[in-house]
Amino acid sequence: MAGEYQRIYQQFQSDPVKFWMHQSQRIDWHTPPTEAYHQDSQGLYHWFADAKLNTSYLALDSHVNQGYGERAALIYDSPVTATQQTYSYRELRDEVAHFAGVMRELGVGKGDRVVIYMPMIPQAVIAMLACARLGAIHSVVFGGFAAHELAVRIDDATPKLVLGASCGIEVERVIAYKPLIDEALAKAHHKVQHCIIYQRPQCPAELSPMRDVDWHQAMQTATAVDAVPVAGDHPLYILYTSGTTGTPKGVVREHGGHALAMHYSMEVVYAMKPAEVFWAASDIGWVVGHSYIVYAPLIYGCTTVLYEGKPVRTPDASAFWRVVEEHHVNALFSAPTAFRAIKKEDPNGAGFKRHNTQSLQRLFLAGERLDPPTYEWLTETTQLPVLDHWWQTETGWAIACNPIGIEPLPIKAGSASVPTPGFDVHILDVDGTPCAAGESGAVAIKLPLPPGCLPTIWQNNERFKAGYLSTYPGYYLCGDGGYIDEQGYVFIMGRIDDVINVAGHRLSTGEMEEIVAAHPAVAECAVFGISDTLKGQLPMAMVVLKDSYSGTWADIRAELISSVRTQIGAIACLKEVLCVERLPKTRSGKILRKNLRQLVDGEALQIPSTIDDASIFTQIAQQLRSA
Ligand code: COA
Ligand code: AMP
Repeated sequence: MAGEYQRIYQQFQSDPVKFWMHQSQRIDWHTPPTEAYHQDSQGLYHWFADAKLNTSYLALDSHVNQGYGERAALIYDSPVTATQQTYSYRELRDEVAHFAGVMRELGVGKGDRVVIYMPMIPQAVIAMLACARLGAIHSVVFGGFAAHELAVRIDDATPKLVLGASCGIEVERVIAYKPLIDEALAKAHHKVQHCIIYQRPQCPAELSPMRDVDWHQAMQTATAVDAVPVAGDHPLYILYTSGTTGTPKGVVREHGGHALAMHYSMEVVYAMKPAEVFWAASDIGWVVGHSYIVYAPLIYGCTTVLYEGKPVRTPDASAFWRVVEEHHVNALFSAPTAFRAIKKEDPNGAGFKRHNTQSLQRLFLAGERLDPPTYEWLTETTQLPVLDHWWQTETGWAIACNPIGIEPLPIKAGSASVPTPGFDVHILDVDGTPCAAGESGAVAIKLPLPPGCLPTIWQNNERFKAGYLSTYPGYYLCGDGGYIDEQGYVFIMGRIDDVINVAGHRLSTGEMEEIVAAHPAVAECAVFGISDTLKGQLPMAMVVLKDSYSGTWADIRAELISSVRTQIGAIACLKEVLCVERLPKTRSGKILRKNLRQLVDGEALQIPSTIDDASIFTQIAQQLRSA
């Protein structure tokens, strides 16, 4: 591949320090960095540690100070409440500064953690930016998670304050959040001094007089506070993501590297210009929401759209195109599953044709592999560039993309295109030997990771090192398998660990397995991901019951489904549960989950020679046929 991308990628590869120090000039630092990164006593990398900045200042005040205060910063579009509201940069800055004042009154300061459990309302964005303003560290928990998951995160982050809303709205269903918050706080060992609750008219919550503070009331008497400059390596947020066990991992993001990565990616990955409208149709509870609903568009001076709705059913499959038309969206970013849902209901793209989508220049897809049929349908329907890009919560921005801000490269369906400048991507075999072009292996990134990626797991350097850095010394292990072709295009083929992707939501089968195995009637079980045409993957459990269990299969099945839903949340979507007599294992006792998945998905079985008894697959196959 020749051309501008290659030139810039080589510039990065030959001298990453020089490359990123040059890029750092993009940022309106309080004190600019004198060095790119340093390694701490544990050998972990931190970018721009000797700089000073504040992300809330960059996202708001900096634009107001440059004369763009009246530009639209945030458009809130909520079909579920029939509301639309626009905040200018000045209005958003003032709200954020006042809410930071509310939190400061409650004793929140630099380094304190604040857990946010809110739906897709402007107050969630205000809360995040207000934490950043104080140098406090926010941890947003996705509203689809159950009280147990919230409690686990509260115990790990040990926040001073919890911010919540009285309810979320799922299409027509009002979900009371406050009882979930109360339950989580009662369950958590860590005790929180205060909760601030934003009351929504759809379901006002009862507040506990000693602990809870009403958002509206507190704002009436609040005084605005200025952004507090913090060191470049000061944590901005912790975002928990699923690992291979029931204990989620707190991905840490630091102010300096993150701000630069967000700015850089808006230009290189998304080819945006300040004042254009960027819409990431995701949720602030996920990394896409953090990076591309909140931080990147605002740091870059764009208008961001906060959409409290679904791709379908709010009210129909033309919802996305309606939003594009009404808010003049220039670039739309969502997950393939959202477009599969739209395609299912509107295969001929009538909704797209009905709306004036002239403003829209390109579409970005991530969160799971963009399957070629969805890519083709979307390209045909919209006649626009449809760009897959691959990243993870840990990196916070695209590891591989079509770098259209540098130069558009030819699209290859099924590939996320090429490594983004900053990411030195390699495919390694089990021994750590580089794979040849076209050969599959584990995807790894040469250290140091670029600015914006996680320096560590919150309060757990050892877990970070063991999970990501120890397999291939000098490399970060992504957890994905894939290959790079002769032209340098990256093909990500799926996870090589116990993580699955259900409707763009990252979930741990290991965690579900722990919950299922904990049921007193279960002798052993395996939970793994199977293919689903709409959601990409769905979890499936195969369960061996204890001989002593005397109840019915229907009862236990319902109990297992309900305990996963109660402990993780509705998004876990465990509905497929099969009772089997035995599970296939190797002679050393390892359950062959990969083969079970192949069996259910109708793929050829690649059974290892170490299998104990291969006839189990025949039994299970028969059961699947009759189930
Ligand atoms: N709060 C509470 N519950 C939530 C929730 C939230 N924020 N988000 C989802 N849920 C619930 C849903 O109501 C549903 O509950 P149910 O089983 O009682 O019906 C369950 O969790 C599963 O939700 P979901 O996986 O979203 O399935 P769905 O059938 O409601 O919708 C899609 C299917 C494809 C339309 C939807 O998954 C979607 O929009 N996906 C795109 C996801 C996305 O953008 N991911 C971002 C990554 S970039
Ligand atoms: P999350 O941390 O929730 O963003 O999920 C990250 C995981 O989603 C990655 O490790 C991949 O397995 C998968 N993923 C995200 N984007 C893509 C993509 N464009 N192509 C293939 N897989 C993807």
